[in-house]
Amino acid sequence: MLLRVLGTAAGGGLPQWNCACPGCAGARRHPSRRRLHDGLAVHGGGTGDWFLANATPDVAEQLESHPALRPNAGQSRTPVVRVVLTDAELDHTLGLLRLREAARIDVWCTEPVHRALTTRLPLTDILSPYTTLAWHDLPLVGADRPAEVAGLEMSALPLSDKRPRYATDEPSHPAWSTALTVRDPGSGTRALYAPALAAWSDALDEQITAADCVLLDGTFLDEDEPSRSGVSQRTASGMGHLPIRGAEGTARHLARTEALAYYTHLNNTNPLVDPSAPEHERLADLGLRVAEERMVVSL
Ligand code: MLT
Ligand code: MN
Ligand code: ZN
Repeated sequence: MLLRVLGTAAGGGLPQWNCACPGCAGARRHPSRRRLHDGLAVHGGGTGDWFLANATPDVAEQLESHPALRPNAGQSRTPVVRVVLTDAELDHTLGLLRLREAARIDVWCTEPVHRALTTRLPLTDILSPYTTLAWHDLPLVGADRPAEVAGLEMSALPLSDKRPRYATDEPSHPAWSTALTVRDPGSGTRALYAPALAAWSDALDEQITAADCVLLDGTFLDEDEPSRSGVSQRTASGMGHLPIRGAEGTARHLARTEALAYYTHLNNTNPLVDPSAPEHERLADLGLRVAEERMVVSL
């Protein structure tokens, strides 16, 4: 399978339009530091089909920037769009509105995410004059059968009951925020994508151990980054994003994995958005790195 990284920034992107923090200012001075909202395009080989993991507000530019994702010569339109969602957050779903020129959009997601996107953010109603949204169940890891999308097996590992801010009063459910697991049934290779990781669990550890490549939540470097930078008085974990560093940070866990491991969903306050930050070397010593914009991983 092929993973094309379409973007690596948390909600707001880098630079964020209303922000002049050092990370955003640096990205304005050095366009190579710009990051679009995190998302992937995944190709299963064989059939030639792609699907998107999350549909970001940047989705149209993201598709346009990869020749393989543009409509073919001789094809006036890309007929079907496939999107698999890890959660119902706005930075991962607003792209569905931008894809409204499609004849049809097939979307796979968990039950609470489907509920949020058909009631609180009523995408089916809003989009019905423009396109057809076809919803499909994204089975949880351990279910009898994974979903099959573009020749790949797909399931969702429940990570937390973190609801989007527009739906905080919705009932709790373990699959509000999930890791997407992808398996190529031909080669047996596996990838895992988890842009919002609130806590480390044994089940996650197991999936990461089995994976060949993981792209994980790198929103914040430290627990106190949100308060230090004025983003929020909550801790990073309190905001649903386990930080990279620290006793309970993700780096300590990830250092044990043999999988290719990349951080994505970087917030503009994260010192790692500066490529000269010394922390990059510390991560490299652990075999970890920050995902680059438009990088391709072939598994
Ligand atoms: C998150 O990753 O925590 C959310 O996407 C934040 C947001 O609502 O923008
Ligand atoms: Mn986000
Ligand atoms: Zn900023």
